[in-house]
Amino acid sequence: MRVAIFGTGYVGLVTGTCLAEVGHHVVCVDIDQAKVEGLNRGVIPIYEPGLEPMVKANHAAGRLRFTTDAASAIAHGEVLFIAVGTPPDEDGSADLKYVLAVARTIGRHVDGPAVVVNKSTVPVGTADKVRAAISEELQARGVDHDFDVVSNPEFLKEGDAVADCMRPDRIVIGATRPAAVSRMRRLYAPFNRNRDRIVEMDVRSAELTKYAANAMLATKISFMNEIANIAERVGADVEQVRKGIGSDPRIGWHFIYPGAGYGGSCFPKDVQALARTAQQYGHEPQLLNAVEAVNNGQKGHLFELIQRHYDRGEDEGVAGKTFAVWGLAFKPNTDDMREASSRRLLQQLWDAGARVQAFDPEATHEAQRIFGERDDLRFCDNADAALEGADALVVVTEWKQFRSPDFGRIKAALKDDVVFDGRNLYEPVDIEAAGLAYYAIGRGRSVRGNPFDA
Ligand code: UDX
Repeated sequence: MRVAIFGTGYVGLVTGTCLAEVGHHVVCVDIDQAKVEGLNRGVIPIYEPGLEPMVKANHAAGRLRFTTDAASAIAHGEVLFIAVGTPPDEDGSADLKYVLAVARTIGRHVDGPAVVVNKSTVPVGTADKVRAAISEELQARGVDHDFDVVSNPEFLKEGDAVADCMRPDRIVIGATRPAAVSRMRRLYAPFNRNRDRIVEMDVRSAELTKYAANAMLATKISFMNEIANIAERVGADVEQVRKGIGSDPRIGWHFIYPGAGYGGSCFPKDVQALARTAQQYGHEPQLLNAVEAVNNGQKGHLFELIQRHYDRGEDEGVAGKTFAVWGLAFKPNTDDMREASSRRLLQQLWDAGARVQAFDPEATHEAQRIFGERDDLRFCDNADAALEGADALVVVTEWKQFRSPDFGRIKAALKDDVVFDGRNLYEPVDIEAAGLAYYAIGRGRSVRGNPFDA
């Protein structure tokens, strides 16, 4: 089939590439000329495992094109995807200006019956706004083309986006008319072999499904972080508790890892946006508010541990200390630092007068862009280099390469022999056997020097 995709950000680029990979003819449109030119030369603006070779191969095969020419893309597409950003407004609700601008562009150029698909994460009711924007433009032109607006939210995880897209666990299609559903079924048929993954529903339910999925996952994380905070105070070990509850299939093993808080482009934004939607419709979302508040607190927790350690030590205070920081991205296998816990930590360390030597396998460029040049920040080429001359180590992102370090080497490099672990990567007995003090999340009295011990 012939497909047009508006927006070559994360969602649009991955979706367009995967649709081309299974044989569809895809034109991706973006208003950013430099980005489009780059993509046509094989320059991929994001780091996502497996994406670059796939873009290049499909581009070379002529199934994937990038353009700034919206009119030609609209003429090309039997299905027109809207996959542009929905950044948060000042009050946390999703800003629809880019989505509606695309809708208007479609209305101005479309030349026959169309299926318009919302792929962006948009609040309930957006499909109606998209429909209204397109209708207005059609009326202004004095034409009356028949069109459908479908909600087809994405569930891609950064770092696994290509796999998630090629092998989806479900494909949600919210549509009003059967003809639109069958066109979407044809489009997704290559991803839907062996068993039917397509879940058909009405448009508003599809819009809410996306938010419900992300809010549920964020809730699991904040719940575990709350348990971790309790564990810390009562002298229990949340890692043992996690193992004790995960085997119950009603609870499950996924997304019950306590840590330095969730970040990324989806959870923080979507939890807030869903809360704003609830309020707009007259419901105060107490649970969602709590999920967000717990996460906000959790992002400051590593610094709290650091401060408690140094405030009771002999060489008092964090000021003047140098911290090796392992991991800046909001999670492993991405260079994305949106809402990353590292951002809060670094700011807190700097505000307290400390210096940072950071290493991240992919996010250094992004961090340079965000923080710029500063005297109290040095980027290192590898994990060992970050340790050199540092007083303490802080682990913020659970990259695989940080999972089994040589504790003897860490001990030899650090001046203060202390490790703060925001992702519970290590066994307290192993790290303490090496002579290092160890602080992790919610690990209570099983960790020596637990700051909440009397
Ligand atoms: C998420 C959803 O998983 C995906 O389905 C949706 O389409 C977009 O949002 P993503 O933001 O890429 O994907 O990351 P994810 O792997 O879900 O992790 C989000 C954050 O939660 C990370 O900061 C991660 O470190 C944190 N996390 C995750 C935890 O703290 N504990 C966990 O148990 C799991």
